[in-house]
Amino acid sequence: MSSAPSPAPARRRRRRAIAFGAGIVAVGVVAAPLAASAHGHQPPGHPSTQDDTLRSLAASSGLRIGAAINTDKLGTDDAYTTIAADQFSTVSPENVMKWDTIEPTQGTYNFAPADKLVAFAQQNGQLVRGHTLVWHNQLPSWLTAEAASLSADQLRAILKKHIQTEVSHFKGKIWQWDVVNEAFNDDGTPRDDIWSQKLGDGYIADAFRWAHQADPKAKLFYNDYNIEYTGAKSDAVYAMVKKLQAQGVPIDGVGFQDHLDTQYGTPNLQETMQKFADLGLDTAVTEADVRTTLPVTAVEQTAQNSMWSQSLAACLLVKRCISFTIWGIDDGSSWVPSTFPGEGAALLWDDQYQPKAQFSVLQQTLELAAGAPHRTR
Ligand code: XIL
Repeated sequence: MSSAPSPAPARRRRRRAIAFGAGIVAVGVVAAPLAASAHGHQPPGHPSTQDDTLRSLAASSGLRIGAAINTDKLGTDDAYTTIAADQFSTVSPENVMKWDTIEPTQGTYNFAPADKLVAFAQQNGQLVRGHTLVWHNQLPSWLTAEAASLSADQLRAILKKHIQTEVSHFKGKIWQWDVVNEAFNDDGTPRDDIWSQKLGDGYIADAFRWAHQADPKAKLFYNDYNIEYTGAKSDAVYAMVKKLQAQGVPIDGVGFQDHLDTQYGTPNLQETMQKFADLGLDTAVTEADVRTTLPVTAVEQTAQNSMWSQSLAACLLVKRCISFTIWGIDDGSSWVPSTFPGEGAALLWDDQYQPKAQFSVLQQTLELAAGAPHRTR
């Protein structure tokens, strides 16, 4: 497990995080981006100085807390939009920066939905995690249809153009980019997709280099699931990252998706994140949710609460863990029920936008982290 850093580096790190936000957020909310007055209502009876939103509580520990956003709901669903603005200090596009949305037909770009999210983030003093440039899923059909007939050079040129066009479009507006997503199988072997089949493993280094050329200030991440657990996959990603560093490839961080399920138990996230942090990398929890079988029993609810608080505590205890992002807002629009039949209840708000016990658990974890006499970050 990680050693406990002294309080002094914690204070330094907090200033850096806020200064960085000021550097790339375009509107005038940066002087106090997380202040109570700028965001959200105070529950009746609260003193005006107290702000118990997740974003404000997280700011006390120098952490950005985020959510994946369904841009169709922004501005059309008031309850959803209010929670998105009030509770979070970073946002991720749940789908609209993926290749199938960005370039639905070859050479025709559809940036509008993602631009809407970036504008929302700037209005609300939030940073943006770009997600994702290279993946095996949600590719446009024109690409999957022709991939088999393309030469390696042709496919490489298409990938380069995609990365350079998308990263350039959002230049200066993205805090962290998930450059490559899910390139490994659980047994640690490379995923057998169009990228590895045609380009070998060299496409990963290329992707980071092209993204860096297009936006040198964005933090570039490799992102994956199940690397929260020690084991073959985490080891393979670790070996790849070390190799990239040795080759001088511009990689800044590793994202831990953290899609958890009560039936598989709590991962050793702190240990695995610290290992990557010790390579000199930032880390982030990028897609947290905790699903369970429905209907939720009291025991499963207890397990969910514990898994949420342990995930967040792991990030708080790893000094280089710079953001904690939750994959959605409410159970009504979570990806879980359609992906894992019979499971759900994975998020912090129910389908009526009522905060669940899991929300209070995260609030309490952040409150304890901020108020602890012997802070560890
Ligand atoms: C999911 C979205 O939440 C769904 O709306 C979509 O239909 C499929 O993709 N890992 C990732 C995310 O990196 O992009 C995925 O998001 C969830 C798993």
